Amino acid sequence: MPATVLIGLGWGDEGKGRIIDFLAPQHDYVVRFNGGPNAGHTVKVNSRIFRFHLLPSGMLYPDKTCVIANGVVLDIDTMRRELDEVKSSQEKHAQLFVSDRCHLILPYHKMLDLAEEKVRGKRKLGTTGQGIGPVFADKVARKGIRVCELYDPVYLKDKLENILQEKNKILTLIFGENPLKLEEVYEKLLRDAEFLRPFVTDTLILLQKAYREGKSILLEGAQGALLDHELGTYPFVTSTSPMAGMVSLGCGLGPHQIDRIMGVVKAYATRVGTGPFPTELKEEIGQYLRDRGGEYGTTTGRPRRCGWFDVPAIKYVIYPNSPDELVLTKLDVLSGLEELKVCVGYRFESRLIEGLPAFAEAFDRVEPIYETLPGWREDISQARKPQDLPKGALEYIKFLEQALGKRISLVSVGPAREQMIALE
Ligand code: IMP
Repeated sequence: MPATVLIGLGWGDEGKGRIIDFLAPQHDYVVRFNGGPNAGHTVKVNSRIFRFHLLPSGMLYPDKTCVIANGVVLDIDTMRRELDEVKSSQEKHAQLFVSDRCHLILPYHKMLDLAEEKVRGKRKLGTTGQGIGPVFADKVARKGIRVCELYDPVYLKDKLENILQEKNKILTLIFGENPLKLEEVYEKLLRDAEFLRPFVTDTLILLQKAYREGKSILLEGAQGALLDHELGTYPFVTSTSPMAGMVSLGCGLGPHQIDRIMGVVKAYATRVGTGPFPTELKEEIGQYLRDRGGEYGTTTGRPRRCGWFDVPAIKYVIYPNSPDELVLTKLDVLSGLEELKVCVGYRFESRLIEGLPAFAEAFDRVEPIYETLPGWREDISQARKPQDLPKGALEYIKFLEQALGKRISLVSVGPAREQMIALE
């Protein structure tokens, strides 16, 4: 398969990193095409855990080429930290390229992200504080600074001076923050430019050449489709598209060059930050899932909200992503629960509804309709083939396949590379 896209179909944190790490050996390239350091992809290698926010999850395979393509917003400090961690681990690693078109996250983006959250009060979005909203706003408003601009120091200083005049006014007059100093920001960018230089290239050309040569390319989506700002739970969404359709814009492979779309769903639902979550479990079972699943944010450390599997929400984003198959993650976390509930529909103001209410306040008030399935007691973390799974687990998988109308091809039962079951 020359080009495979893997995307999350929830509110992020579906376990995409470990699936990319699992699929990477069959591919030559691993490419990030959306998001930024708000992502947190966990990869476990030789009993060591790596948490990547910017580096592609294929980074720990020495024979791969990893690409941070133009759709990703770059925080150079994060990238440097992650590369240092990989190098100091003594693990052999992939070759890395960064697009000359990536937009840069600058100090004012993070300051504005935090300050804007503060003034939102009870309507806060619960952002990761990485500057995502402000950097994408600048990108669309044509005020961003891109990697390629770092290599013309005169132009860069002039542009930065102009931008800081505006940003400093907003920071000081509206949010009461200290202004940023031009020289400090500029000097740091010049140092960053030198650090980045060996990685920078036109990644569209790089990927098109790889495609022509028949190399296989794995495209690693960040966040989840329900956080999409077009079709997700707006405004409780992120500012870059986590949809499969973003691949073309985010790295320059055309829609006809994509051969396979894989959607990742977790065996239960989680959400970090605020926003509607109809199947949320606020008591014991929610805590059980959080503890067993280690449901704490990779980027922020915040406890994730946990709930039952939500078919209507996931079905809604299956339509625009059209996955060929699904990957079900963290099935092992459900072991030990006597019964499992799956939300199969919503009632709103006493009526059954189709789809998701567009207005978040209305979505907050839907009443989930549940079907109850038997659970299983067995620890399934050692299962490696479908026959190793107890009846309850197999029934749960079958139920989800039927309810979602999609085939589940892979199931993960733990964080290690080998804890994976391929279904026929
Ligand atoms: P932002 O992307 O930092 O602006 O955050 C906007 C919303 O998306 C918040 O609710 C975040 O918790 C959520 N979010 C952003 N990135 C991720 C992710 O990688 N996993 C899960 N949630 C995320």
